[in-house]
Amino acid sequence: MRFSVAMPEELLVRFDHLVARRGLAKNRSEVIRDLVRDALVEEDCATPGVGVMGVLTIVFNHHASDLQEKLHTIQHEYFDHITCSTHVHLDQHTCLEVIVLRGETGLVQEIANLILGTKGVKNGRLSLTTISQHI
Ligand code: NI
Repeated sequence: MRFSVAMPEELLVRFDHLVARRGLAKNRSEVIRDLVRDALVEEDCATPGVGVMGVLTIVFNHHASDLQEKLHTIQHEYFDHITCSTHVHLDQHTCLEVIVLRGETGLVQEIANLILGTKGVKNGRLSLTTISQHI
């Protein structure tokens, strides 16, 4: 199905710059489709009951008292929702961990918040995407 949309010239120029920054591999229409899919994925991930994949990245100091044990305990408690995790030693003191989660969106965000809220976790971010096939 074809769909045309009126857009102010200035917005279109800025959008074309965005397309250019994303590289030559995608044209204007493809980038617009990506943006629409982004909005649909975001909506899906905010809808209770929807299955999602979550990628949680956290940074912490490994000297912090019993922090690693606490993080480990949470991950074992929710072992059936933790797909995998990778630990990277950033420097002598700092660790980065990437934890891949799978499950109902509310639960995935709850587990992520438990981990992010653990004392000693200095920084973190959860990125969600839907498991849904219709995107
Ligand atoms: Ni480490």
